[in-house]
Amino acid sequence: MINSAEIDIDRPRECLTIGRIAPDFTAITTEGVITLSQFRGQWVLFFSHPGDFTPVCTSEFIAFAELYPEFERRNVQLLGISIDSNPSHLGWLYSILEMTGIVMPFPLIADRDAEIATLYGMVNPDRIYEQSVRDVFIIDPNQRIRAILAYPATNGRNMYELIRLIDALQVTNTYGVSTPANWLPGDPVIIPVANTLEETIQRATNPESLGLDCLAWYYCFADVSQLTPVNPTDLQQ
Ligand code: BEZ
Repeated sequence: MINSAEIDIDRPRECLTIGRIAPDFTAITTEGVITLSQFRGQWVLFFSHPGDFTPVCTSEFIAFAELYPEFERRNVQLLGISIDSNPSHLGWLYSILEMTGIVMPFPLIADRDAEIATLYGMVNPDRIYEQSVRDVFIIDPNQRIRAILAYPATNGRNMYELIRLIDALQVTNTYGVSTPANWLPGDPVIIPVANTLEETIQRATNPESLGLDCLAWYYCFADVSQLTPVNPTDLQQ
C-alpha cells in the first residue's frame, strides 16, 4: 500500500522521451527473469496495462496474441507489464487459455513495487489510481526509444496501428525517409529535403529526372522500390 504522506508530488521528475536510450531493468515475468537489454538487436514493443482480470486488457492480450506472428515477422519482441503480482498474471493468463485456447506467447512483467512502471512514467506520479496506464514504448534494436503512445484505461489500443507504426519506423531506419499521414506499406514515402540549392531547383523544376514525384521543392515522394538502403542490415527486419 502506498503511504500518501511519503509522496512529494512536486518533486521534479526525469521525463523519458523519444530519442533516449530505454533504461535497462531486470524483472520477474511469466517466462522467468528477464533483462530488457537481452533484447538488444530486436525491436521491443513494451506496453503496460491497468490490471489483470479486466475486460479491455483481456481483449488487448487476446489481440496481441492473435497478431503475434506479425510482430515476430518484423523482429519485434512483445513485453507486457503491470503492477500486479506474478501469481495474478499466471492466473489471468490461464483464464485466457481456458477461454480461448491461447497460450500467451510473450512475457508479462510483474512490477509489484511499481519500480519499472514509475521509471517509464506508466503510473500517475502521485499514484492516484494505483494502476499503470496503457502506455506503449517502441524501442529499436539499439535500445533507443522511437515512439511513445498513451491510452486511457477505458479504451483498448489498435494493434494494426502499432504494426503500421513499426513498419513505418523500419522503413525510416532502412531508407532514411519519412512516411506521410495514413501511410501504409507499399505507399510512396517522403524524401528528406535536398542539401544543395542545385538539387532544390531540380526537385522544383524536373523531379522526374531524380526519380521523384514533387509537389513543391520541400514536398517530394518516391517509391520504396526505387530507393537504395542506407542501412542494408535493417533489411532483415
Ligand atoms: C479494463 O481493462 O477493462 C479496465 C481496466 C481498468 C479500468 C477500466 C477498465
